Amino acid sequence: MNTITIFGRKFTWLEVIIHLGAWIPLLLISIKFFNGGLTVNPIQDIEQRTGRLAILWLVLSLSCTPLGNIFGWKEMIKRRRTIGLYAFIMAFIHVSIFIALDFGFAIDLIIAEILEKRFILLGALAFNGLTLLAVTSFKYWQKKLKKNWKRLHRTIYVIAPIVVIHYGLAKKGNLLSLQGDIIRPVIYAVIVTLLLVMRIRPVRQWLKNFWDRLTTKVANWRKSQSPA
Ligand code: HEM
Repeated sequence: MNTITIFGRKFTWLEVIIHLGAWIPLLLISIKFFNGGLTVNPIQDIEQRTGRLAILWLVLSLSCTPLGNIFGWKEMIKRRRTIGLYAFIMAFIHVSIFIALDFGFAIDLIIAEILEKRFILLGALAFNGLTLLAVTSFKYWQKKLKKNWKRLHRTIYVIAPIVVIHYGLAKKGNLLSLQGDIIRPVIYAVIVTLLLVMRIRPVRQWLKNFWDRLTTKVANWRKSQSPA
């Protein structure tokens, strides 16, 4: 595996891409926020941008297992925890903006908003789930919870659709009449559905066989093309 050494620690290229991919957008958003480079409502703007980053990292974390187990990109399985933690960090920043900047820590107003707006209630539900998964992502909890650890971490299959609904409702979209800014939430809904369907054993097995046959054919064809 190709690695580079930074401050005496070895990183693979994928790790470098993951860390840069997480911090650079946050840095750019902060620069824009302090330089007045956002919309006329900068708080709403960073709330939305960090929400979109959170859902993106969540979907990336869901894609690690299929990419590793079906398509043979094993390193993605090793990086699953880091990517999942970044999803939590982005969601944490998104929620902190809501609590601190949007509502100025007015707890009674925040509770009223959560109870009044369904999409915020769903966001809060998903965030509680993500927090539990992030806290228990350490080896200590994996050992302590044994079989239940896997069961607990499978709740991501419920959390991800809840986040997609939170997104769709936040955009005040209507899927039936295709009203509102519904395209991106729909794209996420399709991707999350595909990623969940890929985990069903017969589907996974079929895809894996198909991929193995395809890569073998390509390898054989390459061999036949190379000079003896
Ligand atoms: C306590 C938990 C949460 C609260 C209070 C919350 C609050 C909000 C609010 C107020 C908006 C609408 C912003 C606006 O358009 O004015 C929003 C949008 C959004 N949130 Fe959350 N959220 C929560 C959890 C989450 C989580 C866990 C995720 C993803 C992992 C997430 C992803 C998003 C996305 C993608 C949007 C839409 C961004 C856009 O308009 O482009 N939220 N959230």
